Amino acid sequence: MTAPRIAVVTGANQGIGFALVQGLAARLAPDDLVLLTGRNPDRVAEAAARVSADPATTSHVQGRVLDVSDPRAIAAMAAELTERHGRVDIVVSNAITRLTPDRPQTEQADEFIDVANGATHAVLRSFAPVLRPGGRLIVVASSLGTLGRLDPRLHPLFEDASLDDVEAIVESWRAAVHAGTERELGWPGWINVPSKVAQVAAVRAVAAQRRETDLHDGTLVAAVCPGLVDTPTSRPWFDDFSQARTPEQAVLPLLDLILADTVDPATYGELVRFGEVLPWSAQSPSVPRTIVPR
Ligand SMILES: NC(=O)c1ccc[n+]([C@@H]2O[C@H](COP(=O)([O-])OP(=O)(O)OC[C@H]3O[C@@H](n4cnc5c(N)ncnc54)[C@H](OP(=O)(O)O)[C@@H]3O)[C@@H](O)[C@H]2O)c1
Repeated sequence: MTAPRIAVVTGANQGIGFALVQGLAARLAPDDLVLLTGRNPDRVAEAAARVSADPATTSHVQGRVLDVSDPRAIAAMAAELTERHGRVDIVVSNAITRLTPDRPQTEQADEFIDVANGATHAVLRSFAPVLRPGGRLIVVASSLGTLGRLDPRLHPLFEDASLDDVEAIVESWRAAVHAGTERELGWPGWINVPSKVAQVAAVRAVAAQRRETDLHDGTLVAAVCPGLVDTPTSRPWFDDFSQARTPEQAVLPLLDLILADTVDPATYGELVRFGEVLPWSAQSPSVPRTIVPR
């Protein structure tokens, strides 16, 4: 008999995170537990109740408040789950703060970076050590998150970067955003791009340390891109949504990756989109709408 599985998804009361919880809850076993987490108690409770009431749901679903901008809250949840259940099987770091094109990005940068990058670092630090062998630790990034998206002047920063190095790079980029010097240093103007590159770099850094053991155990640490998904977060930034997926459609390849019996070593530590590895050097073509001047 296998032990019940424990899954945690951040930023899960709407959008891709919610669809991931729905999908996990429909595919996991009755004894398994999916934690639907988010920052707002009412929204979390409502979303968890919706998944629990879904006839497709087979596992337990529990709503839990987790504001991922607080690394201590992430550490506390990892510790609590480990104490209660021994280990954690599936962790998906998905939360993001919505960027508004009509407000200067300098005003939005701190919250955005704390939620997207601070939380990624904290989830990797707190949950990677307590991941059950054979588990999955997934960061929802984007095809914007390849090194090839950045000015070549910035590439050496990321070479063999550890998680501490990535954290330092993020802080120096954040300082440049506030100082108004980021573009002259080569950083793209849309803060989503460096943020996504740093998320993937953080995953690569952690994966590099664990690769051999994880592949031996069938454990996967990876970043994923869901493709263009029609959510209020993406709406203001792109003009053409004719090819966009619904969250429910977008999570299908992610669920297949998460719930696969085996791990394809080629995907380990990489950015995976639609089941395929997107090379770190890739220059993907998506172009956002106008960036509002600072
Ligand atoms: N949509 C796309 O086309 C697309 C494409 C590529 C990658 N992605 C990635 O997919 C992920 C999900 O995006 P989405 O489009 O589903 O966004 P979304 O619909 O805006 O959902 C974001 C979720 O994150 C939560 N959140 C925000 N701040 C938080 C905090 N401090 N603590 C905990 N949760 C917080 C939000 O909660 P509230 O409801 O309380 O705000 C919401 O549940 C992101 O990492 C995004 O970059 C999206």
